[in-house]
Amino acid sequence: MLGYDAGVTDERPIGLFDSGIGGVAVLSEIRRLLPDESLVYFADAANFPYGPKAEDEIKRLAAAATDVLLERGVKLIVVACNTASTMALASLRSRYDVPFVGMVPAVKPASSLSRNGLVGILATEGTVQTSVLADLIRDFANGAVVNTTAAPGLAELVEAGAQDAAIAPVLVGFLDPLIEAGSDVVVLGCTHYFFLRHLIEKSLPAGTQVVDAAEPVARRVRQVLEESGLSASGIGAAGVEYITSGDRPQLLSCLRRWREAGYAIP
Ligand code: DGL
Repeated sequence: MLGYDAGVTDERPIGLFDSGIGGVAVLSEIRRLLPDESLVYFADAANFPYGPKAEDEIKRLAAAATDVLLERGVKLIVVACNTASTMALASLRSRYDVPFVGMVPAVKPASSLSRNGLVGILATEGTVQTSVLADLIRDFANGAVVNTTAAPGLAELVEAGAQDAAIAPVLVGFLDPLIEAGSDVVVLGCTHYFFLRHLIEKSLPAGTQVVDAAEPVARRVRQVLEESGLSASGIGAAGVEYITSGDRPQLLSCLRRWREAGYAIP
């Protein structure tokens, strides 16, 4: 086991990482649910995108991101990225002692929400190929038929701050197969897509439900903190720090843009 000194103090921050800015949606949800917790967000923008990369490479990058966060003294790490979670979470857990909370496409909630038993998942090309997703569908689809669509390039548009008008036509091409398959629930299987929710909802037939995993992840974080005695005391200020392996002004300007667009980003 590397780099984790268990049980020091519960005032240490929670760390999160993603390939870029998508995981900020998860951070916002954790902030809402756990306002007393300090947070450190690492955007691995120098290595963006994760979606097209091979599993070994993602394992290496996820370990490097973990090291960055451990250097900041975090007490728990949220892998706020479906690609990294499906490809690397098991190897992170075997290598490090720090508790991890990962995120996978919300197959189980989507299947129970579906009225017609037809569920669609939109995710990166990496995530849709993983055995973790196949196992999840096998074990938790609960009889629903689950169709997956890879959306190469979509997270890239979000990361680049593309306008809705540029994203909408690309999105239609990815959603069409899920619509044709009759999906009445569509799962956002990549954290970057959270910021496309308004466009995705507009592009789907009326009544189609869109599901993401940010809130369940935040609840899971709370549960792990409580069970491990790691919750913050609530005394003192809980800060939020953003760090990146890429361009810091670009990260900050993206956060500003989303705040201006109405997202409750701390
Ligand atoms: N945000 C990441 C996810 O949830 C992937 C984006 C990318 O780097 O391709 O899968």
